[in-house]
Amino acid sequence: MRTITSERLVLRPWDAGDADFLLDLEGRWEVVRHLGADPTTMTSRSQALASIERRRAISGHPVHGIWIITDRDGARLGNLLLKPVPLSAGEVPADPADVEIGWHLHPDAWGHGYATEAARAASGDVFARGQSRIIAVTHPDNHASHAVCRRLGMHHRGTTTRYMDTSCELFELTRDG
Ligand SMILES: CC(C)(COP(=O)(O)OP(=O)(O)OC[C@H]1O[C@@H](n2cnc3c(N)ncnc32)[C@H](O)[C@@H]1OP(=O)(O)O)[C@@H](O)C(=O)NCCC(=O)NCCS
Repeated sequence: MRTITSERLVLRPWDAGDADFLLDLEGRWEVVRHLGADPTTMTSRSQALASIERRRAISGHPVHGIWIITDRDGARLGNLLLKPVPLSAGEVPADPADVEIGWHLHPDAWGHGYATEAARAASGDVFARGQSRIIAVTHPDNHASHAVCRRLGMHHRGTTTRYMDTSCELFELTRDG
């Protein structure tokens, strides 16, 4: 799987050596509290290792991916994903499937513009590889994430229940803006 770089950041595949960081990231309620209909914190290293295996499997795709975000010195900062979004029960898949972009930073890395920089680099990469549209689906109270969407130039398309069995704010970005 490819590595994506930006001015301050490297987005590279997750590997088993990142398990302690992933547990520290997703073991925090402030990181997971707005994720999906029933957010839960990660509680064990074995869960982290299993999650890294699933991330690596998805990342075999030519366009989609789930990357660990590090700085240029390799310090771990967070997670960036671009993959088909889970649909709510009974929803019919679009053709092509809706691809979501998502970001999760360690709280120590909030407030530096890293999520926006990583998302800009990854969206530019997938648009160059033929993806024409990406979406972000965010909890209505997740104002920090809405701000990332706006910084990226994403368009707010209202509230929807189409994804993840919950009510989300929908943002959209197309290759042509
Ligand atoms: C959502 C999340 C990634 C946003 O992180 P963030 O650090 O606020 O977002 P950015 O990386 O875009 O950084 C922007 C902040 O950095 C500041 N900043 C500092 N230096 C900067 C720079 N060089 N460039 C841009 N912004 C910079 C901005 O002023 C802004 O701070 P402010 O919100 O206080 O105004 C973070 O809150 C998070 O991980 N939340 C938990 C997981 C989550 O909910 N993910 C989203 C699921 S939909």
